[in-house]
Amino acid sequence: MPHPDTLPPSSNAAHHGLTSLSDKVWPKEGFTRAPYWAYTNPEVYGLEQKKIFRGPNWHYVGLEAEVPEAGCYKSTYIGDQSVVLTRADDMSLSVVVNRCAHRGNMVAIEPFGKTKKLYCVYHAWSYTLKGDLSHAAFSQGLRGEGGLPKDFKLEDHGLQKLRVATLCGLVFATFSDETPPLEEWLGEVATGIKRVLKKPLKVLGYDTQRIHANWKAYHENPRDSYHANILHTFYGTFGLSRMSQESGMILEDAGRHVYFYTKAGTEKKSADYDSTSSQLRSHNDGLRLEDPSILKWTDEFNDGVSVQILTTYPGFVLHQIANSLATRQICTKGPGQTDLVWTYFGFADDDEEMTKRRLVQTNLAGSAGMISVEDAAVCEMMQHAMADAQEGESFIEMGGKDLDIKGSSKLSERAIRNFWNHYRLDTGL
Ligand code: FES
Ligand SMILES: [Fe+2]
Repeated sequence: MPHPDTLPPSSNAAHHGLTSLSDKVWPKEGFTRAPYWAYTNPEVYGLEQKKIFRGPNWHYVGLEAEVPEAGCYKSTYIGDQSVVLTRADDMSLSVVVNRCAHRGNMVAIEPFGKTKKLYCVYHAWSYTLKGDLSHAAFSQGLRGEGGLPKDFKLEDHGLQKLRVATLCGLVFATFSDETPPLEEWLGEVATGIKRVLKKPLKVLGYDTQRIHANWKAYHENPRDSYHANILHTFYGTFGLSRMSQESGMILEDAGRHVYFYTKAGTEKKSADYDSTSSQLRSHNDGLRLEDPSILKWTDEFNDGVSVQILTTYPGFVLHQIANSLATRQICTKGPGQTDLVWTYFGFADDDEEMTKRRLVQTNLAGSAGMISVEDAAVCEMMQHAMADAQEGESFIEMGGKDLDIKGSSKLSERAIRNFWNHYRLDTGL
């Protein structure tokens, strides 16, 4: 199985936006604007790591199915911090910072493994799978010389431990004691997770996509139901998702998280829609697929929903696009680069035909699929257009100027306004 580890950041990660944060003032309009310096400034990036990624939010770190047995571990990231998800002998899950308590070396090097302890290769300190220090080499010294001080206690030098919570096989972790319980924090959006993850999961594969754009450009994208039927030729042309279909967008009460859905085959005839769609590049009824099998899907959740895209603040996506199921995890790699880790999965009891269908549909909804490839391309073009971001700001007023949490139209940027609202509350910008 190809591993999901991310690539090292490249050396040009932070060459943009070199002016100081103290000169920066958020536009007076508030959350209906996002200044382009927020996408490029290295000081902003540092502030986000502290206030958002190590702040009071839950971060997706993996699937329980990825660490199925005692001793299994997975290395991953929260923001740009390397962390390890482990399963101990008592089957409990832990998430620890991947940094030895001695002098800061990594304790897990492989993306996945099975082990009795986390072991630091530098000076052989070793830790239990719950992150407690169990042994420090030569702690007593040798022949009465060297060794650690008399007052050294193993229990004072464990790995940094995070709080962990799970929902339907998804594992989340947080650095903060202030973060409310996971399900309370997810609010109404937990319904969208429970709708899809109803049974034990089976991982089908991974890929990691380096996007040369700020993480927020990508985070905004799956919150943006406005673009889906416009940018993505495939959705409109082949009827998987159209504005004329029955659809909705649900934000939880605080506005941090969102999901939207569309039901294929529910087109309503409307003169408004016909006159707009004729101007969309994406709506081309003349196109036909040589092999239409990629579009064959079954309504496995018995509710007619062909597409559901769910996003939790600040870096997680769960998608159901036809029968393609995947999580996407945002791993920040400096202000101008993001790794998006895709985990494709099905259910443990899928038959061979269903597994094949899910895999075939990664050509549609995987990182290089006919739909998703366009999202990364747009993020990179945005980053390019922002240049050094000394000026300029985005305009986020589709569907109004307010947070409108209870609104229903998909033709609205309210989920993006809500993102910037929370972003500003967390960072103080
Ligand atoms: S840095 Fe880990 S044992 Fe020294
Ligand atoms: Fe998209």
